[in-house]
Amino acid sequence: MKTRRPLIAGNWKMNGLRADGIALAEGVAAKAKAAGAALACDLLVCPPFTLIADVARAVAGGPVAVGGQDCHAKTSGAHTGDVAAAMLGDVGCRYVIVGHSERRTDHGETDAVVNAKAVAANAAGLIAIICIGETEAERDAGRTIEVVAGQFHGSLPDGATAANTVIAYEPVWAIGTGRTPTNAEVAEVHAMIRAEAAKRLGADGARALKVLYGGSMKPSNAKELLAMDDVDGGLIGGASLKVDDFWAIAQSCP
Ligand code: 13P
Repeated sequence: MKTRRPLIAGNWKMNGLRADGIALAEGVAAKAKAAGAALACDLLVCPPFTLIADVARAVAGGPVAVGGQDCHAKTSGAHTGDVAAAMLGDVGCRYVIVGHSERRTDHGETDAVVNAKAVAANAAGLIAIICIGETEAERDAGRTIEVVAGQFHGSLPDGATAANTVIAYEPVWAIGTGRTPTNAEVAEVHAMIRAEAAKRLGADGARALKVLYGGSMKPSNAKELLAMDDVDGGLIGGASLKVDDFWAIAQSCP
């Protein structure tokens, strides 16, 4: 039996105007409310910055949490276009994604930058969802374990705990492609992350740490992925933009 309650998190990425985001959030909130205590997972939606306040209002009072998709490492100042972790908390976020591969690629974020963002998130009282994952070239070169372990240790702050941190393993080549690793490949990486986490958080901390899988998770493959021992939920992109798909994934939790 799983001791960690799964987290099903939607990363909406750069999608949606206000009407779309509010409708999506209301749809998920209504399903969650109807499910009540039968809900087998925690639910989270991470809208673009512009929609966070509206989405937070739409899900207020229910079990659906709200998160940002990024934050700056600094608390305030001359950082045009950036958003501080406390600002996210101020509009209703409990979580923030840091180090998504699209941030690492589009904005050159290094493990050190991601680590600093996670520190800032935790300092503002937010749970940091730290994303790590290998590229296709790295997998083909047999470097997956080395690369993901390196990102894990580099991106994880020393103050991380199972209460303030969630890890999301997202193979870059599986994001938005419809391709997923085999069960054995997912199991190998998740077990490695938990073993490495024990070195940082201790055995109890590692046992309590949620490690999500992300990358082309959808209703048709969610059940199998979420059933795996070390998979504690999903970080979902495309399929989180449709209420029925996101809900079908949430209902696939063991
Ligand atoms: P997809 O589910 O669209 O593959 O995206 C996964 C992801 O990047 C979530 O952060």
